[in-house]
Amino acid sequence: MLLMRCGFLHQHFITIVLLSTFCKDSNTQFGPKLPGFTINAPTRVTVQRNLCVHIPCTFQVPSFFTLSRNAQGSWLKGDHSQQNVVARKDGLDDPQDKYPRFFLTGEVWKGDCSLRISDAKSEDDSLYTFKLEDRGVKFSFTDVSPKVTVTDLTDTPEISTIGTLVAGERVTLTCTSPGRCAGEAPKITWEGATVRKAMVHQYTIYNGDGTRTYHSNLTFSPSIKDNLVRLLCRVTFTDNLTSKSEIVELEVEDAPPKPTTVCSSMDSKFIAGIIVGNIIILLLAGLGLLFFIKRHMKNAGNRPHESKPQGNESAYQDLHGQSIHTYEKITMK
Ligand SMILES: *[C@@H]1O[C@H](CO)[C@@H](O)[C@H](O)[C@H]1NC(C)=O
Ligand SMILES: *[C@@H]1O[C@H](CO)[C@@H](O)[C@H](O)[C@H]1NC(C)=O
Repeated sequence: MLLMRCGFLHQHFITIVLLSTFCKDSNTQFGPKLPGFTINAPTRVTVQRNLCVHIPCTFQVPSFFTLSRNAQGSWLKGDHSQQNVVARKDGLDDPQDKYPRFFLTGEVWKGDCSLRISDAKSEDDSLYTFKLEDRGVKFSFTDVSPKVTVTDLTDTPEISTIGTLVAGERVTLTCTSPGRCAGEAPKITWEGATVRKAMVHQYTIYNGDGTRTYHSNLTFSPSIKDNLVRLLCRVTFTDNLTSKSEIVELEVEDAPPKPTTVCSSMDSKFIAGIIVGNIIILLLAGLGLLFFIKRHMKNAGNRPHESKPQGNESAYQDLHGQSIHTYEKITMK
């Protein structure tokens, strides 16, 4: 009878005695001192409005009880008597959409009850209680009911440092929204005279742990007129609350004269000139040689009896060959 009232299907006698001692009502909420059911979670956490908070949490069950894969965990807002579920999860189903800002990140059947709250709102300021349901057992862990305190947003977006800019050189400034939320992306906007000629690109970085960070890149080529121009970025959250970054004052200097670049461009022209010149010289030399050989072959055929006068060095071998030839002709006569 007791067993049925507590909804506990375990057959153990000790269990029945234990549960009968701590059973409080027909809704089977057990008291805080039930041996074996323990929870480890921070007693208080603070989160700024529109930001996120992760509440690490683990729980243990008595050794006679083994969690099934279908163990279901719920986080209740307030104490267990209110039954106001804000997040629920079990091994089978992942009803994240039902509770968009509260997410039980832990795997319940492994004893992990960690909770993440995204885009915190003032009304989230409350105690929260973890409740376990598995094979008919329902247990609310009232040892620790973390108190979430929601404060005003004081963190501000940050603009990446860029140092002194050079006129004409493209630059990208990055604005990063505060927090690491998994909720809806805030809108990031830029303000300042330079923004008109800049390209803006907002993007989200997905961190491995399920959190996200939101960024906006402002890309532009500064001119010397942008020197001392002021810029800031503003994050607008889904509830229209905004947060401004600190003001950044651009420092732009003229591009320095670039002797190395000028020199290298002259060098390359000079080298190209040398190469072309060399090709022309080689071509001319080749043509000259061809001409010379042709002319020589012609001469060798046409002038068998002539003996060339000596003294021309370049024609020495030629002359030598001819004289032999001439000699043969003479002996034939
Ligand atoms: C934004 O700008 C930063 C800094 O220049 C760069 O590293 C990053 O890749 C950019 N991101 C996107 C998505 O353009
Ligand atoms: C935020 O502001 C926009 C335009 O000003 C308005 O349409 C929207 O309803 C507002 N949202 C909230 C949550 O107040």
